[in-house]
Amino acid sequence: MNVLQINASARREGANSTRVANSIVARLQSENPSASLTLRDFSGDPHPALDEAALGALTQLKNWIDAIARNGVTFRYTATGPKGLLTGKKVYVALARGGRYRETEADSQAPYLKTVLGFLGMTDLHFIYAEGLNMGPESAAQGFAQAAADLAAAFAFN
Ligand SMILES: Cc1cc2nc3c(=O)[nH]c(=O)nc-3n(C[C@H](O)[C@H](O)[C@H](O)COP(=O)(O)O)c2cc1C
Repeated sequence: MNVLQINASARREGANSTRVANSIVARLQSENPSASLTLRDFSGDPHPALDEAALGALTQLKNWIDAIARNGVTFRYTATGPKGLLTGKKVYVALARGGRYRETEADSQAPYLKTVLGFLGMTDLHFIYAEGLNMGPESAAQGFAQAAADLAAAFAFN
């Protein structure tokens, strides 16, 4: 198994999404001890022309997605429309938020990622939510507990 971990937070230290992503990767490695890990960190190694001060996390991630969405490489056009070429992959998405937007219209991240990852052929998606992180310590603890529960559920269905 080859694991690609993409840290999309603008923060190099203390990022909640990276904390959740690390727990996902730890789980993958515990189940697949020989798995190789490739780490892309957009805060420490941003895509050219973007930096931490200029752009938020989703914009960094969108910039990277724009760079990898390439006709003939990661998707191709067919007589019946575009076809994603990145098939057979599992994707775990760690979402960290100050508020709570899961399954509401204000959630701009999960629908966008579902659409664009699906376009590239990735349909086995698991969203791990740590929400309510800026609504007091009790809410933050609940948010990380929810992320742990989402992670357990994602692996229960594997
Ligand atoms: C500039 C800025 C804007 C933010 N806007 C929102 C927001 O609109 N909604 C929300 O739920 N959280 C918002 N947050 C909180 C982040 O979602 C939260 O800090 C999250 O942990 C960031 O991910 P990270 O810890 O991986 O960097 C914002 C944080 C910052 C720094």
